Amino acid sequence: MKVTVVGAGAVGATTADNIARKALCEELALLDIKEGIAEGKAQDISQTAALLGFDTRITGSTNDYSKTAGSDVVVITSGLPRKPGMTREELIGVNAGIVKGVAENILQYSPEAIIIVVSNPMDTMTYLALQATGLPKNRIIGMGGALDSARFKYQLSKHLGASPADLNAIVIGGHGDTTMIPLIRYATWNSIPVTSLLSAEAQQQIVADTMVGGATLTKLIGTSAWYAPGAAAASVVQSIVRDEKKLIASCVSLEGAYGQTDICLGVPVIIGKTGWEKIVDYQLNAEEQALFNKSADAVRSMNDVLKTL
Ligand SMILES: NC(=O)c1ccc[n+]([C@@H]2O[C@H](COP(=O)([O-])OP(=O)(O)OC[C@H]3O[C@@H](n4cnc5c(N)ncnc54)[C@H](O)[C@@H]3O)[C@@H](O)[C@H]2O)c1
Repeated sequence: MKVTVVGAGAVGATTADNIARKALCEELALLDIKEGIAEGKAQDISQTAALLGFDTRITGSTNDYSKTAGSDVVVITSGLPRKPGMTREELIGVNAGIVKGVAENILQYSPEAIIIVVSNPMDTMTYLALQATGLPKNRIIGMGGALDSARFKYQLSKHLGASPADLNAIVIGGHGDTTMIPLIRYATWNSIPVTSLLSAEAQQQIVADTMVGGATLTKLIGTSAWYAPGAAAASVVQSIVRDEKKLIASCVSLEGAYGQTDICLGVPVIIGKTGWEKIVDYQLNAEEQALFNKSADAVRSMNDVLKTL
């Protein structure tokens, strides 16, 4: 197995670090446009091998796509991150050019690759990657729900005083502060619905804190977060390369599912060796479906910006 991570910045390098630690592939290629950064970080991660006990071969390159040839999975993290006060949507113009160019270069050398899009605004970048490459829809996966669901479990664990590992919870919809939908009705602690364990106020607080999870960190750190995003991207890679068939909320092309078409949006999907394999229908109630439709409207208006570029 070979995995490439494009963009050796905070999220890309952390994704690569997680992939290496878990020995998810034999070969790992890191690529960045900035001279030396991918080579340096590839060496730095490689030097943890003796300490952590993995034997993945890691290479770094400055924009040399021949080094990524034959990749099974490619994670695109290249692009600008958010600064405090900035929305993910404001990144659209710059990141659209970067993501389109990167996807085209990647496919020249790895025509069979499954592509995971991380760059923001992720829902629109996933839609763009699908349109620009014309790949079968199952090979383009936007990563946002894996991260947002982990943040949802973090908030639930704090309120319940419980282990995040004992929680099952999912966030669907757009990967934006106002477009994501933490499905609290479906969240459980050891199979017990959390709605029976938490007050209505606590539930509202958890949902609200989950939705601004990314913005809260951007304000504290001064740029967007990378530990959980990197771990989340690596978890999607893992489900593909190990054919785990995990259910992971991911941004995928909808052709009627959840009442939407011509859009990429976060829904529960099964992820395995062929990419996202099927959409799982969570049977939304009227209120949840209305939120999902609103989220789709917001993402669709961002997608419309692509036509003006
Ligand atoms: N989907 C998610 O859940 C999620 C979570 C966190 C961050 N993000 C997004 O991921 C992206 C990366 O964030 P970051 O914190 O790592 O930023 P960063 O600035 O640390 O790293 C981005 C890297 O991309 C590189 N780059 C820019 N243009 C490139 C090109 N054409 N080819 C190759 N490399 C190129 C830059 O040189 C830089 O090293 C941002 O768009 C951010 O908003 C998404």
